[in-house]
Amino acid sequence: MPSKGALVVCQSGYEGFLAREIAGLGLSAGESGPGWALARWDAAEGEADPGLRLRDAAFPHAILDAPAPVSGSGVNEIAQRIMEQFAEAVRGERIEERWPCVFAGSQDMTGLGRRVSSVEAAFHQLLKKRLGRVARLATGDRPRLGPARGLFVWFTDFGTAQVARSAHMNGQCRMADDDSAPSRSYLKIEESYAIAGAEPAPGESVCDLGAAPGGWSYSAAKRGARVVAVDNGPLKGGALGNPLVDHRHDDAFGFSPGREAVFDWLFSDMLEDPHKVVQSIVRPWLEGGWCRRFVVNLKFGRVDPIALLADLRSATSPFSVHGAGVRIVHLYHDREELTVTGSVKR
Ligand SMILES: C[S@@+](CC[C@H](N)C(=O)[O-])C[C@H]1O[C@@H](n2cnc3c(N)ncnc32)[C@H](O)[C@@H]1O
Repeated sequence: MPSKGALVVCQSGYEGFLAREIAGLGLSAGESGPGWALARWDAAEGEADPGLRLRDAAFPHAILDAPAPVSGSGVNEIAQRIMEQFAEAVRGERIEERWPCVFAGSQDMTGLGRRVSSVEAAFHQLLKKRLGRVARLATGDRPRLGPARGLFVWFTDFGTAQVARSAHMNGQCRMADDDSAPSRSYLKIEESYAIAGAEPAPGESVCDLGAAPGGWSYSAAKRGARVVAVDNGPLKGGALGNPLVDHRHDDAFGFSPGREAVFDWLFSDMLEDPHKVVQSIVRPWLEGGWCRRFVVNLKFGRVDPIALLADLRSATSPFSVHGAGVRIVHLYHDREELTVTGSVKR
């Protein structure tokens, strides 16, 4: 049975949870470091590749297929070795379209970012000399979501990188801030739209539970949606006094839409026990069909996230029973939180 492998990238500091999630998928988790872990598995011919499970996992941000290690003592040596490996891999291949050429590494290692940029610049010089036409088609933009083919180089330390020709992006992405956004939570909802495959549209309705100080409400209102923002706390910044935001000083657990009302979106970002949010918010909202789509952020600071993931994915979870297209992810902007997106089955 052929053995396969991947370098799996996650948010730095969460590699322990990533390794446990990999093991829970029936793959073996190998070496790991800040923001990455290696995974290995056996793939039987004619059967679905078990490595594909990584695409639906929560902690992986990017999956680099069949990575090959490259090491060297200095910038030029590493760049040269990556060049040799790339030239060998593209031999006989006709590259006609723009292709991603992505160099990255853990943000936690001081100075590693500078090393990555230096190797990237040295590699581009070599690429221009050796494969000028291919070099002109290269783009440093990291693809956002789905499979991609190009060159993906991930530095695990100053002298070693893992190099892959193809990768799968699970959708996490650093988002741009907005001066009017009242909280950094704003970045989480902005990031989740691409993963949900939709965002609030002008004229749509949003119920935002645990809304204060209003980052999520502001994000929806700036797209022209009408928001009912439920929280006893005060709204601030672009959410405060916004004509599209109706602030209700209420307890979210006791809040339900009127008999006829169905919200286009349920947002929930409450500082509460995640199981309580699932049973007392998610279950009635999804069961009652009170919303069409949802983005729910669950805090795992006081619970084991791997056990929480198992509960969220169990057959009896309201997400499994009433949800469609459900994705559970650890966003780039999440801390000890998981974000669940999806729509309600009709
Ligand atoms: C992380 S903050 C929400 C941040 C918000 N999404 C934003 O973008 O600014 C959590 C909020 O949950 C609210 N919260 C906690 N329990 C609540 C409850 N039972 N009802 C309403 N709000 C609640 C808190 O008051 C707090 O404002």
